[in-house]
Amino acid sequence: MALPVVNGVIDYLRREAEIGGYETAAEQSAQLEGVYDSVAKLVGASKEEIALTENATVAWQRAFYAMNFKPGDRILTASAEFAANYLSFLQVSKRTGASVEVVPNDSAGTLDPDALKGMIDDRVRLIAITWLPTNGGLVNPAAEVGAIAKEHGITYLLDACQAVGQMPIDVNALCCDMLTATGRKFLRAPRGTGFLYIRKDVLERTEPAMIDLFGASWVAPNDYQLRPDARRFETWETNYSTRIGLSLASEYAMNIGLDAIEARCHSLSDALRTGLKEIPGVHIRDVGHQLSAIVSFTVEGLEAAAIMQQLSALGINVSVSPPSSTPIDASERQLPPVVRASPHYYNSKEELERLVAAIWLIAKHKRA
Ligand SMILES: Cc1ncc(COP(=O)(O)O)c(C=O)c1O
Repeated sequence: MALPVVNGVIDYLRREAEIGGYETAAEQSAQLEGVYDSVAKLVGASKEEIALTENATVAWQRAFYAMNFKPGDRILTASAEFAANYLSFLQVSKRTGASVEVVPNDSAGTLDPDALKGMIDDRVRLIAITWLPTNGGLVNPAAEVGAIAKEHGITYLLDACQAVGQMPIDVNALCCDMLTATGRKFLRAPRGTGFLYIRKDVLERTEPAMIDLFGASWVAPNDYQLRPDARRFETWETNYSTRIGLSLASEYAMNIGLDAIEARCHSLSDALRTGLKEIPGVHIRDVGHQLSAIVSFTVEGLEAAAIMQQLSALGINVSVSPPSSTPIDASERQLPPVVRASPHYYNSKEELERLVAAIWLIAKHKRA
């Protein structure tokens, strides 16, 4: 997190301790309302179309579980779909009789829009894909998928968890009906933050799977009315301080400029891939035509977790993406756990050189 984000969260929390939680919310109501403006601006939406959530998973679940499937309905998804989403597909499929089908990839490993077109019929109720998966640099053609969904009037749910904060997002250009994201990744917001975008006309005909007294009003003994905006997907109680952090992180990213962030992430990840490719025994595990700043790789004969541990001892943070995060892609490509480096704009070329030098040594030591 950037310092203004951390300070904003701490200041808000401190104020709660000083004057009370309700009192701080009343005092800072404009800032709290402004969170919706910041997030909406970040993705090109209107603030009525934004619901704030605890994370990307909850945002996605609120969107997905609001859909009513029936036997014979088809859900189309991507091979690199995040496992949590796929588990929800399986549960809903078990409950309702809807089927889940994976759109084939092209030869580069990217979701193939032509294959998607070939799968469309009037039973397809939902296209739900992950834009940038957790396990590598793949960038699925989210806008092309959106154009196909729009042409056929099919609801389109886009998981933009790894994209937000890394590249510009425009929900209208993407033609998505619902988009979900987390705060804690490339957006550099606090953990425990996320949001759902839901297009106004879809919102108007979508009832959340669960409601509380924030999302709906009890208007008569036997009747209730949903809130008109996307906040019908929220609950009454929440962490206000981290919301402020989400807002500040969104503004921070927009002040730098998402185009500039994307260009810088691209240049850094490109340099990292180039450096890693030269090391004998190192395999870059990214697929796709266009690559994001998620660089994943393996070193022959070494477990990803052991590499992560060795790098950590040198003060270099990477993570491990296990096959269980993206099981279909991992089994299709026979992927072991992979080391995941996610350089961001604040990293320097020197830091990446240090990472490459460390991997040289680790790989050399293994070969010796
Ligand atoms: C593609 C994708 N979607 C969703 C999520 C879930 O995000 P969160 O854990 O913040 O809910 C992740 C987390 O890694 C992810 O990579």
